Amino acid sequence: MYHSAFCSVDVFQPRMLAARFSCTLNTHNVRIGHCTKVPRNVNMQKLQHGYLFPEIEKQELMHLKMHPHANVIDLGVGDTTQPLPTIVTSSMVDFVHGLSTTAGYKGYGPEQGEKALRKAITVAFYKDLGIKPSEVFVSDGAQCDITRLQLLMGPNLKIAVQDPSFPAYIDSSVIIGQAGKFVDQAGKYKNIEYMTCGPQSNFFPDLTNISRTELIFFNSPNNPTGHAATRKQLEQLVDFARVNGSIIIFDSAYAAYVTDDSPKSIYEIPGAREVAIEVSSFSKFAGFTGVRLGWTVVPEELLYSDGFPVMHDFNRIMCTCFNGASSIAQAGGLACLSPEGLRAIQSLIDYYMENARMLVDALTSLGLTVYGGKNAPYVWVHFPGSKSWNVFAEILEKTHIITVPGCGFGPGGEGYIRISAFGQRDSIIEASQRLKYLNYQEQN
Ligand SMILES: Cc1ncc(COP(=O)(O)O)c(C=O)c1O
Repeated sequence: MYHSAFCSVDVFQPRMLAARFSCTLNTHNVRIGHCTKVPRNVNMQKLQHGYLFPEIEKQELMHLKMHPHANVIDLGVGDTTQPLPTIVTSSMVDFVHGLSTTAGYKGYGPEQGEKALRKAITVAFYKDLGIKPSEVFVSDGAQCDITRLQLLMGPNLKIAVQDPSFPAYIDSSVIIGQAGKFVDQAGKYKNIEYMTCGPQSNFFPDLTNISRTELIFFNSPNNPTGHAATRKQLEQLVDFARVNGSIIIFDSAYAAYVTDDSPKSIYEIPGAREVAIEVSSFSKFAGFTGVRLGWTVVPEELLYSDGFPVMHDFNRIMCTCFNGASSIAQAGGLACLSPEGLRAIQSLIDYYMENARMLVDALTSLGLTVYGGKNAPYVWVHFPGSKSWNVFAEILEKTHIITVPGCGFGPGGEGYIRISAFGQRDSIIEASQRLKYLNYQEQN
């Protein structure tokens, strides 16, 4: 329920209050107080409810009502759980103490990020790939950069996305006005190209069936499938973008989890500098989901159709719409990229990947078809012929474990559930034991 002095919304005595304030009732019989004359953004109206996590929460609450003593294990939300290494927190603490001194006080920093951090990012993530510090724009996270990139590109173009995919690509596209109507039956928006990425094609789209779009969002390692695109797949993607004159927005938020020789950056692929932007993040790499720090690389060679460099416009967006990442977060980010910081962070990544291995083993031993968990902290489990929400409910009922129904990531996720390996080790051990109650082997 929402309350404010002028526009309280409640469902009690709505008609009486409506009369008193000469206001109207909306279609849900909810009193609407003083209304401005500002129409609602039609794009916001088009947006489907972000129902996935609220619905999961609702299901969890209902479950707890029925089983008040249940020890529910949440392997749903992809949020990190392990404490930050002290080298990282102490660098932020030192910086904060400095802010209380004349010598250490700092106000606005460069909108593009501190020079030292931009340089450290090129060294840590783009060694030998020719990325210059001036091409790195430090930000408050990948999700915010995705939206700023949509603002940069504007409403008059079309995007392609992997199906299933991280929902921010589609939602930001709808908000900026690129998408058409949502078609309930298909579970898709018009004017968005959904690129099916299932196991039948090793989680890569059949590009011969994909029509040209100006932008192609591509996430690898992928949330939710956990698949890291192979070098060959990314070569095909870059080639496809070059032929079509498209721009790839490559989201490498989980690159640090790659354990095989799959590329960690799109710039490992020859020719990518002329067709790709890369967004990335300290969130899953270093546990900065709450601290907030990310970056976007826009190479100098990336040009619009009239030859104007995209980088100059993105710089303008960052100056106008952002104004620079928190200096405290940047101090922490710099510490993450020191040799000691990188070592400490690697042990966190190893911890989550050991969790993933345990979950994969437990699920595989049930005879289930399990993907992911090798190059990403997500395990993607197939339940052929079942609806994701039914599987979610069954797992919750039998094991008190929260997962995420795959259909929440797009129609291509129907029949799957996503399990996050970001939990505490004791929860993962307990969850691996409880999953045995599913007894799939006996049923099959
Ligand atoms: C693929 C992907 N990109 C970006 C983000 C968000 O990153 P950030 O915390 O930097 O905004 C997430 C978060 O779950 C994600 O899964």
